[in-house]
Amino acid sequence: MAAPRIAILGAGSLGLLFGASLAASGQSVHLLRRPGHRPTEERIRLERGGERRELSLPASGIDSPPPDLSHVILCTKAHDAAPAIRQLAPALPPGAAVLTLQNGLGSQDAVAAALPGHPVSAGCTTEGAWRRDARTVVHAGIGVTRIGPLQGDDVDWCQRLGPAGLGCEPVPDIRRWLVDKLRVNALLNPLTVLHDCRNGGVLEIPGARAALESLGAEADAVLAAAGYRFAEGAAARTAAVARATADNVSSMLQDYRAGRRLELDAITGAILTLGARHGIATPEHQRIYDTLRGLAAVGR
Ligand SMILES: NC(=O)c1ccc[n+]([C@@H]2O[C@H](COP(=O)([O-])OP(=O)(O)OC[C@H]3O[C@@H](n4cnc5c(N)ncnc54)[C@H](OP(=O)(O)O)[C@@H]3O)[C@@H](O)[C@H]2O)c1
Repeated sequence: MAAPRIAILGAGSLGLLFGASLAASGQSVHLLRRPGHRPTEERIRLERGGERRELSLPASGIDSPPPDLSHVILCTKAHDAAPAIRQLAPALPPGAAVLTLQNGLGSQDAVAAALPGHPVSAGCTTEGAWRRDARTVVHAGIGVTRIGPLQGDDVDWCQRLGPAGLGCEPVPDIRRWLVDKLRVNALLNPLTVLHDCRNGGVLEIPGARAALESLGAEADAVLAAAGYRFAEGAAARTAAVARATADNVSSMLQDYRAGRRLELDAITGAILTLGARHGIATPEHQRIYDTLRGLAAVGR
């Protein structure tokens, strides 16, 4: 059997972390860039714990992928995931397995729907990565990626990620992990943008603290109606995360400051969608959604 060939679709912060780590462990990795990107070798730098590794990875546009891909790790933002996979789907060899790693909810099912007949898994990762420049990725937070099947065969992705030094845990119910992360992201991320503060700020700014409680109560009601039960409420869980990551700038605030599109639909929008589906009112999430849509449209 030919050795697995793994494509990274969405070679941004997380994509370069996964791609460089896999390549550093001797696995065959290919970066898929935007359509029209000319085939090339890219020098990628991976910085982790004071060490710096240089790797040379083949790359091409998503419109000219190599013919022998066996695995694809989809690392775009949530709103780009389904459009990107639709671009790749016609050229994907039968049986090629896809792992989709977006935050939020909704993109995972859209990706699976675009890939009938392919095994699709979803991952929920606590790894942290950012790009120092277009080709240098910093592994800023060592985490774990929980992976479970969404469609078709259950592919053992940990067999690929484990040897690459990326913590990996197969889970039977990946949706529960995605929802658990969603409820924290839906409280923390919008409030950091609204108050232009680091994660810890939402616990100190009185207006943010009050909003955390009311957003949390709505999220708890929505998720309970959708069948998800957690020992700890969303506000308490988010407060613990905000305390543990007090100095971090949330991904949504980073995107806002850089003028990039926010993952608002996949995060706050997912709570609104679930609320509407289960007849639970979500006025606080709606207010924050409308405000951030307005802010993002105006930009900084
Ligand atoms: N970074 C983290 O530490 C982290 C941790 C946990 C979860 N996540 C989640 O992981 C996902 C990715 O985050 P990220 O921080 O890695 O985002 P990012 O740095 O913005 O990277 C996304 C990449 O996808 C590329 N892309 C989008 N559409 C494409 C297409 N059609 N064809 C080829 N490439 C395409 C973008 O290219 P362009 O640059 O050309 O737009 C960009 O390089 C998000 O859902 C995020 O919430 C991230």
